[in-house]
Amino acid sequence: MLNTFQQADHPALPKASADEAARQEFAKSFKGFIQSTLLPGLTPVYQTRVARKFEKKHGRSPQDRRDIREGMVEDIYFQHYAAANRIAQELLWESVNGSVDRQLPELIETARRLSATTAARLEIPEGFQPPRYVTALDIHCMPGGYCSEVCEDDISVGALYDRGVYLYSMGYTGPNNDDMGRSVVNYIKRKMPDFAPRRILDMGCTVGHSTLPYKELFPEAEVWGIDVGGPCVRYAHARAAGMGFEVNFAQMNAEQTTFPDGYFDLVVSHILLHETSGKAMPRIFAEAHRVLAPGGWMIHADLPPFDLMDPFTQFILDNETWYNNEPFWGAMRDMDQIALAERAGFERSDVRFDTAPMAVMEFAAAAEGYSQEASEAVAEREFTAGEFAPGGGWEVLIAHKPMTRKMVA
Ligand SMILES: C[S@@+](CC[C@H](N)C(=O)[O-])C[C@H]1O[C@@H](n2cnc3c(N)ncnc32)[C@H](O)[C@@H]1O
Repeated sequence: MLNTFQQADHPALPKASADEAARQEFAKSFKGFIQSTLLPGLTPVYQTRVARKFEKKHGRSPQDRRDIREGMVEDIYFQHYAAANRIAQELLWESVNGSVDRQLPELIETARRLSATTAARLEIPEGFQPPRYVTALDIHCMPGGYCSEVCEDDISVGALYDRGVYLYSMGYTGPNNDDMGRSVVNYIKRKMPDFAPRRILDMGCTVGHSTLPYKELFPEAEVWGIDVGGPCVRYAHARAAGMGFEVNFAQMNAEQTTFPDGYFDLVVSHILLHETSGKAMPRIFAEAHRVLAPGGWMIHADLPPFDLMDPFTQFILDNETWYNNEPFWGAMRDMDQIALAERAGFERSDVRFDTAPMAVMEFAAAAEGYSQEASEAVAEREFTAGEFAPGGGWEVLIAHKPMTRKMVA
């Protein structure tokens, strides 16, 4: 049903030679094999031997993801699974990294040329310092992280992310890697048909995958993508121009932006929060509240918090914390985000979690002739352990800033 294997080309995208394409295809297929063949084996391994062994040792059954992990790490099947997963992740980046390096001068030149064709702004402040939680390690094992710059006008980690994340998601975020943005946009269209934001801010935009759908839906709006990674926003600006979108990008910290109070009607983020920190998250919420105009909306899209899933699924997802250089992945999912939003200035009654069905699944179902309702249902299934994105749609934390402060009794 889905054609998940063809990333849409655009002028800024690195082109793969036949050998590079073969390596990339292998890395993606290896990852697919692990997900479809090794991962399902973890459940019976846990049920038939790990849980029993744990009970024998502790005189009680495993209670939470930490107990499950304690048992599983001793098991040879899990050890093989975790090792294969890590190898697949490293191979994936490696298969793209060499390709980006080979053509870096041309990629930089193309990005410069594309950026020069648009009136949209690109702001890279002199001496900008990205936060340590982004630079201290290569998040999800991506060589160089989001911020490394090795030459003038460097865009290499942006290019690496664009191609690499397509392989990482095995195409499930759509040909333009934009399923998160597209899903939230569809959600807004459906739930708030009269909402017409004048200005939109996408926090932690990386290369603008999720940012562009907002410009598509709201062509009159002034759209900004911000990120702490300079090469990312440089690449994002060129990519958007090459795809025909006038979207502004800036290297900026979402904890403390330079936008005036009340500048935006819509502030969004997509899988940003789990890559920040316990100190940064409250600041990001407070900043979103500050830059929102009365009547505006804040929407953060990510995977669900742990309390919305069973302990075994939590354990599977938390492997990202342990084996994929994602130190905040698990801790973020344990945080009370509704309370955080409240502390940032939103009223508790104006904050909620919801699911935005995956646009790519909805589209595929509609193409097969399903009704609108049935398509939404197909796109919004129960979350399944280990799935990157398919299943459950995107969990969205939604907060509304009222036009006027409510009277406190
Ligand atoms: C997983 S990526 C986000 C993907 C992107 N939103 C998308 O939908 O394709 C996380 C991004 O957040 C950025 N980031 C982390 N902390 C940030 C902060 N405080 N302010 C702005 N960007 C930040 C990282 O540099 C990285 O590019």
